[in-house]
Amino acid sequence: MDGIFSDNDLSHVVEADRAHVWHHLVQHKPFENSDPRIIVEGKGMRVWDQKGKEHLDAVSGGVWTVNVGYGRESIANAVRDQLIKMNYFAGASGSIPGALFAEKLISKMPGMSRVYYCNSGSEANEKAFKMVRQIAHAKYGGKKHKILYRDRDYHGTTIACLSAGGQDERNAQYGPFAPGFVRVPHCLEYRRHEQDGAPVDNYGEWAADQIEQAILAEGPDTVGALCLEPVTAGGGVITPPQGYWERVQEICTKYDILLHIDEVVCGVGRTGTWFGYQNYGVKPDMVTMAKGVASGYAAIACLVTNEGVFDKFKDNASDPMNYFRDISTFGGCTAGPAAALENMRIIEDENLLDNTVAMGDRMIANLQALANKHAVIGDVRGKGLFCGAELVTDRTSRDPVDEKLAQAVVADCMAQGVVIGVTNRSVPGKNNTLCFSPALIASADDIDAITDAVDGALGRVFG
Ligand SMILES: Cc1ncc(COP(=O)(O)O)c(C=O)c1O
Repeated sequence: MDGIFSDNDLSHVVEADRAHVWHHLVQHKPFENSDPRIIVEGKGMRVWDQKGKEHLDAVSGGVWTVNVGYGRESIANAVRDQLIKMNYFAGASGSIPGALFAEKLISKMPGMSRVYYCNSGSEANEKAFKMVRQIAHAKYGGKKHKILYRDRDYHGTTIACLSAGGQDERNAQYGPFAPGFVRVPHCLEYRRHEQDGAPVDNYGEWAADQIEQAILAEGPDTVGALCLEPVTAGGGVITPPQGYWERVQEICTKYDILLHIDEVVCGVGRTGTWFGYQNYGVKPDMVTMAKGVASGYAAIACLVTNEGVFDKFKDNASDPMNYFRDISTFGGCTAGPAAALENMRIIEDENLLDNTVAMGDRMIANLQALANKHAVIGDVRGKGLFCGAELVTDRTSRDPVDEKLAQAVVADCMAQGVVIGVTNRSVPGKNNTLCFSPALIASADDIDAITDAVDGALGRVFG
């Protein structure tokens, strides 16, 4: 299809961008000799760049965000109508969309009851860490303040979130980090041969038991919370092994440790359930979410807690410090919950959870068929429309391919007009997993077009 912008001259925009915009996650030196990419328009699963070139987007806006696809007028209208009526008032007061979205969200999260609004995944996680610390000080003399996080997980970009960051390349050069964060081992079964003592049988229970070992080493009375992604995203699309979550839940209960699940990627449909943890029957105490909450139509993040956590912040009204003393200026923006309400209506009315399960199964089947053809694919994993293919030099050693080769696959797909992802500056030596997270509206033809592009790219890059 010809680009819709081929007649428009956007050269000034390109120059303005080159001169003044500092992009996230990319080196800028190459822009001295090549143009930065400007994404000009999107519709459904597709986006167009400044040259009018069409791309099929298999990563929902690059970082797994645009769950309901591009060009949703009903979300734009809901936001517009709300902004004209009431755009902002600080969160000490309520708003109509804030109350209605909280009610709707909680209806999808049995066992949870309170929604705290903010603007990014990092911010939501920071606030969860602050709640853990405040509970430790108010109830345990400051002792139960440590937060456990997992190797290969990511929780955000701020210094406290990086302190809970299990991706060493992402953390590199940003230390020193905040004290009180303790790392536990990852649960990637495909790489169990790299973990001392990992068994072939019951790997999931073993991986969870490593968390208990860390708790015992630190002292259970010093550990306040465990923060985990339900499916590790940027650390390699790591689906939890059998038996893992059941044991994690038991351990948290046994040692009175709050379970904080970071649903920033998986939340609001990505894995085919409303939340990733719901695939595994887990009962969290705190859940954070951001990207898919409003599919990028507005900046909104939520920290959701159960009533037990909430109660700890209101059980002594005579103490002037007895509330969550956090400030979230833009948590009072109404555009976020207005967009989120409409986003959720779309997911329900268009049966997008069912579509996610069906299309996710198709994506996994297609990737497995590619693995039969291309020996470089060592492992295929995923849940719903969040899938990964790990590339290795050799299936016996499982040594990762050089990241430049994985990036070459992404570049080849891009040249074909298909945007896929790859783990990037994440785990040293392990930036070798191709990532696929198309919008939840993907059709069978879209899924096949994505894996066809990967097929061609693997053939050209690995011969
Ligand atoms: C699992 C996870 N948590 C938290 C974040 C941070 O979210 P944000 O970039 O909105 O701050 C991300 C971002 O990619 C993420 O993948």
